[in-house]
Amino acid sequence: MTKVLIDCDPGHDDATAILYAARHLDLIGITTVYGNQSVEKTTRNALSLAALLRLDVPVAQGCEQPLIRAFRHGGDVHGKTGIDGAELPEPVQSVVDAHAVDFIIESARQHRDELVLCPIGPFTNVAVALRKEPRLAKWLRGISCMGGTTQVGNTTPVAEFNIWSDPEAADIVFRSGAPMWMVGLNVTRQVGITSDDIERLDAGGEVAQTYAGLFDFFRQRLSEIHGISTASLHDPCALVPFIVPDFITYAECPVEIELSNGLTRGMTVCDFRSLTSAKLENIRAKTASNCQVAVSVNSRALVEHIMDAILEWPSTESANDYVRSDSLS
Ligand code: BDR
Ligand code: CA
Repeated sequence: MTKVLIDCDPGHDDATAILYAARHLDLIGITTVYGNQSVEKTTRNALSLAALLRLDVPVAQGCEQPLIRAFRHGGDVHGKTGIDGAELPEPVQSVVDAHAVDFIIESARQHRDELVLCPIGPFTNVAVALRKEPRLAKWLRGISCMGGTTQVGNTTPVAEFNIWSDPEAADIVFRSGAPMWMVGLNVTRQVGITSDDIERLDAGGEVAQTYAGLFDFFRQRLSEIHGISTASLHDPCALVPFIVPDFITYAECPVEIELSNGLTRGMTVCDFRSLTSAKLENIRAKTASNCQVAVSVNSRALVEHIMDAILEWPSTESANDYVRSDSLS
């Protein structure tokens, strides 16, 4: 079964990724980062989600700021707590006594060649870990992220929030040499929870009802801000290659992060050109491919698969028999 470590900023869709990973994969840890709210709040949310789902998974707190620039968190979209819309339980566990950066390095060392790292918030923790331990990229089975876009952005016309929050960190990660999967907005915006889905969840057990409240808030915010009618399940899409690989298709290509301070800062420049000529005097040559970029998705099938994971989550007894029971990999 695939071992996964989620680096996140919960966050409504992060909360869904945690549940989906725990259901189908061997979730060995959660690290937190600023992003949808301050790192104190995203950490508390991760701990409360672990309590809600009765998960026994270590949580390590990480960076509170990007590498270089001052940061404005994403409270506009995810609310004051970072996960408004439902009352989450008080945490029952504390964070582990290690910084997220060290937790990432130690986990990769322990599970060499097996661990998939899933950054689904700003990339700062992962970049610092790669700089602190240069062997990290080789120890990982891969990095599968939610970030970027091949089309329109959400934070600027061309940049997606997780990459835009810390482009220098994203640049370090994309240049790391680790096998990479990038699932961006071009795909994740198609994976949306509808108001009918929310009604179905609301008629379910305690966990499903909690997610219904979260999605209802998130859907309204996305509708007010971006004019879209569904709650986008961005973050769980990063797990798809290891759970239901056929649901998303990828194109292998070079991806570079725009670091200039102008209009295009944080853009994920995906080189989909099929250059054949050796004569490139006036054409910029392609660099080597570094990423599998998501290009299409079987959206309804994926939403239903995630819905099933939420609806079937046991509400009272221990979740241990339910999680990790039918993974494909
Ligand atoms: C990403 O930004 C956050 O709002 C979400 O949690 C997701 O990781 C989408 O751009
Ligand atoms: Ca996120």
